[in-house]
Amino acid sequence: MAGDPNTIRTPVRAREHITVTGLREKKELGERIVVVTAYDYPSARLADKAGVDVVLVGDTVGIMALGYDNTVPVTLDEMVHHVSSVRRGLKWALLLADLPFGTYESGSDEAIRSSVRLMKEGGAQAVKIEGGAWLASSVQRMTNAGIPVVGHVGLMPQSVNLLGGHKAQGREPEQAERIREDALALEAAGAVGILLEAIPAALAARITADLTVPTIGIGAGVGCDGQVQVWHDLLGIPPGKPYRHVKRYAAVGEVIESALRTYAEEVRNGVFPSEENSL
Ligand code: KIV
Repeated sequence: MAGDPNTIRTPVRAREHITVTGLREKKELGERIVVVTAYDYPSARLADKAGVDVVLVGDTVGIMALGYDNTVPVTLDEMVHHVSSVRRGLKWALLLADLPFGTYESGSDEAIRSSVRLMKEGGAQAVKIEGGAWLASSVQRMTNAGIPVVGHVGLMPQSVNLLGGHKAQGREPEQAERIREDALALEAAGAVGILLEAIPAALAARITADLTVPTIGIGAGVGCDGQVQVWHDLLGIPPGKPYRHVKRYAAVGEVIESALRTYAEEVRNGVFPSEENSL
């Protein structure tokens, strides 16, 4: 959606670093928002240098970096640890961090306490929370407390045990309407953005048009205000066939494995270290 051409603004890109209000301006100006996950300092630095707008320390850290089967076991301590390492790698990008399962559901006090840890100890600038209208009162209190909240609706991976797997959502009209209402309720409660996961592209486009805050999609089509991809998926690190919503921009897993094989071979046959690598 384009903004009022008569309004003079500093272009978002010309600022020192991106803020949540900058993201909203991007939506108004029709500029798409680029989001990627990162879980450590070197990947954060690379994402920042590449000009990504938002770096998300998602609870997918549990799957991609810690070897869990899903995101349910991820703890707040683990999140704080990874968020603070990502913080040290960022200059431009906004740092968004997930509230992991079990750290916000029982009420707004718990949600505020957990968010404060991610912000004070980890350096996050906004937090993401999975859930719909039932979280509105928490989101309102968090917002009043100065915590920028991004809602996450559609497929909510922390509910994997209830859903029986990571399944697309919103294909039936009734469910689609519930997701739309959830997004509207979170916006009304003060959410600064909504992440839409694994829902039909037409539904995501409709929600995007209905909201004034930006939507970030993953498996939700091109009609969102921005897109997010998981670092390891985008770079081709996990073995096997990726999910349909993933686009692999490189085959880094193969490059790393091949380099390590060559290293192992050279150590074993005495080629490394050469004179060049010796004192
Ligand atoms: O935890 C995560 O990485 C996410 C993805 C949907 C991007 O929330």
